[in-house]
Amino acid sequence: MKEQLEKIYSDALNDLEKASSLSDLDEVRAKYLSRKGEFNEIKKNLKNLSDADKRIVGSLANEITAKLESTIKVKHDEFYKKELNEKLAKERLDVTLPGKFIPRGKVHPLTSTTNEIVSIFQSLGFSVVESKDSPEVETEYFNFDMLNIPKDHPARDVQDTFFTTLAPNVVLRSQTSGAQIHVMEDQKPPIRVISPGRVYRNENINARKNNFFHQIEGLYIDKDITFGDLKGVLNEFIRLYFGSSRPTRFRNSFFPFTEPSAEVDVQCIMCQGKGCRTCSGTGWLEVLGCGMVDPNVLRGVGIDPEVYSGFAFGMGIERLAMLKYAIDDIRLFFNDDVRFLKQF
Ligand code: DAH
Repeated sequence: MKEQLEKIYSDALNDLEKASSLSDLDEVRAKYLSRKGEFNEIKKNLKNLSDADKRIVGSLANEITAKLESTIKVKHDEFYKKELNEKLAKERLDVTLPGKFIPRGKVHPLTSTTNEIVSIFQSLGFSVVESKDSPEVETEYFNFDMLNIPKDHPARDVQDTFFTTLAPNVVLRSQTSGAQIHVMEDQKPPIRVISPGRVYRNENINARKNNFFHQIEGLYIDKDITFGDLKGVLNEFIRLYFGSSRPTRFRNSFFPFTEPSAEVDVQCIMCQGKGCRTCSGTGWLEVLGCGMVDPNVLRGVGIDPEVYSGFAFGMGIERLAMLKYAIDDIRLFFNDDVRFLKQF
């Protein structure tokens, strides 16, 4: 048995000599030292020996397995270091490599235009009505009735307004002017607010018209407010938004909820007033409607028109952006072409 042990030991040393990796070592350990390994087989047969032989062979077996264990451990440490170093060398990071380019997102031009207009009016003392206080899905009450728009007004026709199937009187708002009613039903004068948002119209789509677009509504109610205040505020807005050199004009107009009413045109930037496709040959683009709030509207919301007066306006955000950045087609805002959006 002694010779047997010595033979296994020298086989094991041979195998270890040939081992060149951690997994080779694992194999050697399994072959000789595991529960089913060769030394254990020998130890199982010890019981057939005399007590004296048992002691001699037993202690020799223990001595040999301990030597084998420690040789394996030395090799293990050596291989472990070697393999780790190889791995580190292979996976080395080159910190001088150029990074991956991640294109930067930008604010949509309509959002930045809205933000700019809002901050101009904030600088003039107006506060912003939150969109939850003036919804896009609106009743005819807010969109038409309370704005003094008669039942037979053409704007109420399905040709011009999107009606919903929610209820007979529920529409997609065709203007932000309903915000005026929401605010005046909730607040007492003095009132000085703006309300930006999306509106919907059943239009034939072309370079100047889309079936949804964006407006900013404004309302100023106090004692002794005059048309002069209206012109002062809107001229100041135009000066701050366009700079002083852009020709503009106030033009007489009509809206059921204002009296008197006006519209403001800005000279077309595409043709410098000569007339082109964008301005349909007129040289001007209308950017807003405005006027003194009609006494009927004030009475409707319980404000005494003998005590208070005020003005209102509603401007088209796309038009204002088109006129500032020389964009000749409103559809460009909505078809998500990055070549267009990238420019802003
Ligand atoms: N709501 C009108 C439109 O969409 C614009 C407008 C005109 C708003 C006069 C006003 C106003 O507040 O006073 O055409």
